[in-house]
Amino acid sequence: MIKTKDVHEYIDEHHSESLEALKEFLRIPSISAQSEHSDDIWKAAKFTLQQLIAAGLENTGLIANGSHPLVYGDWLHAPNKPTILIYGHYDVQPTDPDNKWHSKPFEPEIRDGKIYARGATDDKGQILGLILALQSIHAVKGNFPVNIRVLIEGEEEFGGTAIEKYVKEHAKDIACDAVLIADTHMIAPGMPSIVYGVRGILYAEIVAKGADHDLHSGTYGGVAPNPLHSLALIIAGLKGADGRINIPGLEEMANPVTDEERQWWSQYPMDMRQQLAHEMGLPFDAKAPEKTYFPGEQEYSLVERMSARATFEVHGFVGGYQGEGAKTVIPAEARVKISLRLSPNQTAEKVLPLLKKQVKKLAPKGVDVEVQFIHGGLGMVVDPHDPYIHAAVQSLGDEYKHDVYFLREGGSIPVAPLFAEYLHAPIVFAGYGLATECLHSPNEHFQLDNFYHAIHGCVRYLDAAARIEK
Ligand code: BES
Ligand code: ZN
Repeated sequence: MIKTKDVHEYIDEHHSESLEALKEFLRIPSISAQSEHSDDIWKAAKFTLQQLIAAGLENTGLIANGSHPLVYGDWLHAPNKPTILIYGHYDVQPTDPDNKWHSKPFEPEIRDGKIYARGATDDKGQILGLILALQSIHAVKGNFPVNIRVLIEGEEEFGGTAIEKYVKEHAKDIACDAVLIADTHMIAPGMPSIVYGVRGILYAEIVAKGADHDLHSGTYGGVAPNPLHSLALIIAGLKGADGRINIPGLEEMANPVTDEERQWWSQYPMDMRQQLAHEMGLPFDAKAPEKTYFPGEQEYSLVERMSARATFEVHGFVGGYQGEGAKTVIPAEARVKISLRLSPNQTAEKVLPLLKKQVKKLAPKGVDVEVQFIHGGLGMVVDPHDPYIHAAVQSLGDEYKHDVYFLREGGSIPVAPLFAEYLHAPIVFAGYGLATECLHSPNEHFQLDNFYHAIHGCVRYLDAAARIEK
């Protein structure tokens, strides 16, 4: 007991060093989707590696299997104790639209107890919190209560497959009893949460082609195929104003929601309508809450629509004239980027052919339409009664001195289901972020108190996991 307290004191005495490390990490523009940042990706990978070395991990190194490197380290000197694999990502999303940031995305700034920078909450702040926990334990005790492996990737944000390949080919090298991931949200400030499910994803681009070059809309309008309009018809056909997705076969594959889940959802501590209106900046009148309209399948609750139901969203139309003023053109080609979020059974592999078939059916005559697959990832639901999850409930509850909520998240962490399948280990999603922290948007930030909670929380978790009988 006394020793555990020492580590926590150490953490409190080293707040400023921890914050400096976080700032240094956040200054690296490790945007995985943009090739101009490939040097920065390596810089972030090396920074992460240095942090693992400083935590006393062994067998540390960068694993580059042709793409953005994985960072690995382990410490395996606790015989008869469980092995915990810690996963996270050092890459970040692009920063656009840049003119909406109040401070520069890669010049971290602290305002009102929050650190602002791209990657602050997703996932640099969270994963560094866990690594600093290891450093603190190492500094105070020189050994760990459990065996540790750390595997951190640099392609999470664009759906890269380096880690997928690694997990499939090297499952034995990363064998573990549980995987700890801090890349998810808490339901609200001060209310610790375990995420028990994430959705899968299928990301694609629909490409429509008409004439072999752009045409004058006065001369050819009325007879020419218009790829942009064709895509609009296809998109409207795939999901109507009622929010229903019209892809035959998709609904039949959906995982049923359990009574236990609906029970958890009904116990959420806030008014979802008000909370969502606030988060999205929509008008909300407490006297007439029904006036705020949330699109989607009205017959399902907001929580269910945001976490368990499939979604279909449009991310970008490309084609035609996008410049200032007007240009009377019929484009030869147009594209639209779309994605579906999916329940675990609705795998991208099974949904893609259904999508292709439906797009073909919806395509108006005269245009060539093709669905190009961009990336896919599996969803999952974990067994919330697993002892390793129970350990997280205890440690987060102790850290925040608050009951722990069970959440199902709408986002995707594609490697998580692969860990579960190939390592046969439970996945513990114990995150310290908040949905309001603008991940993937301008002004991303991370609450600094949660950064320190992440460090303490991870120390508590490893102590709790050490008490689980192997
Ligand atoms: N941290 C998120 C995942 C997440 C988002 C969990 C929201 C819970 C709630 C992760 O970094 C992420 O953004 N994943 C991508 C994966 C995709 C590109 C394959 C996502 O969900 O869009
Ligand atoms: Zn993300």
